[in-house]
Amino acid sequence: MSTITYHQPDGQTQVLELDQPERIMQAALKNSVPGIVGECGGQAMCATCHVYVREEYLDALPEISEDEEEMLEVTASERDERRSRLGCQIEVGGPGLESIEVDVPEEQI
Ligand code: FES
Repeated sequence: MSTITYHQPDGQTQVLELDQPERIMQAALKNSVPGIVGECGGQAMCATCHVYVREEYLDALPEISEDEEEMLEVTASERDERRSRLGCQIEVGGPGLESIEVDVPEEQI
């Protein structure tokens, strides 16, 4: 079973089980996970879906595109050079990345 685990700044955790591959941002919005805004609808144009990916999953992530790189420069919470990604750019539940755990930043706006 593929899962996305969201660790909140207050220590709470949400674990979503996926029926099909899904992006971190879209899955959060559909399931009312707090702390993920997704203002631009997944176009890599707002950075309000910023997440910190846990170390053990970093090697399985897709490359950062130019658009994502630009948005990661303007995140509301400080960028972590290794772990910061846009949740709308990472699909989970397919080959290579079956599950993931992310930390939700303090602020998105
Ligand atoms: S939802 Fe806007 S950059 Fe991800």
